Amino acid sequence: MTIGESFLQLYGSPPEVVVRAPGRVNLIGEHTDYNDGFVLPAAIDRAITYAGRRRTDRRVHAYSADFHASVEFSLDDIHKDMQHPWSNFLRGVSKYLEEDGHRLAGADLVLGGDVPREAGLSSSAAVEVGAAAFWNRLLGWGLDPLYVIKLARRAENQFVGVPCGIMDQFISALGRRDHALFLDCRNLSYRHVPLRADVKIVVCNSGVKRALAQSEYEVRLKQCRAAVAGIANTGCAAESLRDVELFDLAAARGVLDPLLFRRAHHVVSENGRVREAVKLLEAGNLERFGELMNQSHESLRDDYEVSCKELDTLVELARNQPGVLGARMTGAGFGGCTVNLVRAGAAEAFAGSVAEGYEKALGLKAEIYVCQASDGALVSA
Ligand code: GLA
Repeated sequence: MTIGESFLQLYGSPPEVVVRAPGRVNLIGEHTDYNDGFVLPAAIDRAITYAGRRRTDRRVHAYSADFHASVEFSLDDIHKDMQHPWSNFLRGVSKYLEEDGHRLAGADLVLGGDVPREAGLSSSAAVEVGAAAFWNRLLGWGLDPLYVIKLARRAENQFVGVPCGIMDQFISALGRRDHALFLDCRNLSYRHVPLRADVKIVVCNSGVKRALAQSEYEVRLKQCRAAVAGIANTGCAAESLRDVELFDLAAARGVLDPLLFRRAHHVVSENGRVREAVKLLEAGNLERFGELMNQSHESLRDDYEVSCKELDTLVELARNQPGVLGARMTGAGFGGCTVNLVRAGAAEAFAGSVAEGYEKALGLKAEIYVCQASDGALVSA
């Protein structure tokens, strides 16, 4: 049943508006967004849909088709709901819109979709961006996408309490069909880069829930700040790791704590890889692009230490398949998914062999998605 059909069943009439916000996969540029760096994600063809209609009062009735649960709250008193954490993204977005002076109306709505949860494919960002896109459409506002993106991130950082960067909300809002998006996370300038039709993005879900992801994410964030301070002591005027080049880092090697050096080395080298990768993608050189993806994985595994046995196994298996150009972990790490660039003709066989190899090696089942890069929630707004 679609979300629109669930709405009809629950409320007895078709919804007034239906909006869709996709999940994402990041091709390259991991753990760079909160360091003011570069990223190259694509929105995928798995999304969260909101279907709803206005009410005449100031109450929101929301039903989650995924959790088979509903909540009700007043727009005049929005606070966190520990019993229904899925509703907090909607609550946070609604609260901050109101705080910013965008007066909401009560609504009946249903939300749900097929972005796997806790898999590193940004289902949370899709729920947040979807909520903002829903209000935007229902109330006919025409909000600026950049405002929506920042608001959605604020809801995640401050209301839900997860210290993420801006990549996920950005791509869920402004991804484009058959394109990746090259984003400068410092000044938020971006451009869409076409993806070739003869190559597929294949995502392998390790099935490992990212239990450590949040606490270790915060540790990495602090380590990056500490590395900047250490590097600044050597006379390199850096506000963030974005401002550091590999030669600055080499000059700081003697004074920087070795662990901080490795963390910074990942971020600085990854920024370089993203810039090169974009040029290669634009030039159609996917072989070299794939090599950079491979290097990114090594760097995340060895310098940044956010991979895990399951992700490394999926990457190893992937690299032994015919038609593979590159394979790496994607997202925050400690579980979740790998992203693979595979020649279109080889994608189906790839999926079967990796799933079989993963089960043989670790006794675990991997879900494999051959993805299509898709439009973001606000791309035509
Ligand atoms: C998570 C965060 C993003 C980004 C990635 C790592 O997905 O939400 O902001 O930091 O991890 O690249």
